[in-house]
Amino acid sequence: MRGIKHSGTHPSLARRINDRFHILKPGHVVVDCGSAPGSWCQVAAHKVNANGEDETKPRGTVIGIDLQSMVPIEGVHLLPHCDFTTESTQMKVKDLLHGKKADVLLSDMAPSATGIKSHNHEAIVGLCFSVLRFSLSVLNNGGTIVCKLWSGGDQPRLERAMKIICDSVRVVKPDASRDDSAEIFMLGRGFKGSRNPS
Ligand SMILES: C[S@@+](CC[C@H](N)C(=O)[O-])C[C@H]1O[C@@H](n2cnc3c(N)ncnc32)[C@H](O)[C@@H]1O
Repeated sequence: MRGIKHSGTHPSLARRINDRFHILKPGHVVVDCGSAPGSWCQVAAHKVNANGEDETKPRGTVIGIDLQSMVPIEGVHLLPHCDFTTESTQMKVKDLLHGKKADVLLSDMAPSATGIKSHNHEAIVGLCFSVLRFSLSVLNNGGTIVCKLWSGGDQPRLERAMKIICDSVRVVKPDASRDDSAEIFMLGRGFKGSRNPS
């Protein structure tokens, strides 16, 4: 992947997940929630051809949102200092989509961890649910949702909710994810929409 600087928490994680599941395609519209410092955005921008590097393939779009500031990434629309869970941020994302729908929603959002595992788990699951709710109005039929969580008691509830809106759901523990961490990803494919999953 020429020219990509890896600066995120797990530099090759997005690439590994994508290599395994072939999620990102040229021309795709991707919304990356919790995108600072930006390695997933860089991988996505390359894979969807957001820069138009390959003139023979359709040009995609990547939108990155984070509470933190971010340095500009070529070909990526960034919304720094934005809380994804708020309506105002979600309206900004929709404005950037100009009426188009997204093909892929990624969430690597992680709340500030406290010393209490169950609180951390509940907080990150809450972020995942905000992505699921958002998917109902912005994701194309057949689209994909990838969201990170720390495993815990609410994982089955999240999985059930994803199964309502996606044809297939699997739990992924990528190689790059440290063995001692409870970090996992839920991969929902074949988005079909449904009633509010909360
Ligand atoms: C593990 S980092 C993301 C790394 C990123 N995927 C990369 O490749 O560089 C988690 C990020 O989630 C962000 N985050 C947590 N809660 C958020 C929220 N409500 N809205 C937007 N971003 C949030 C944090 O600010 C943090 O930058």
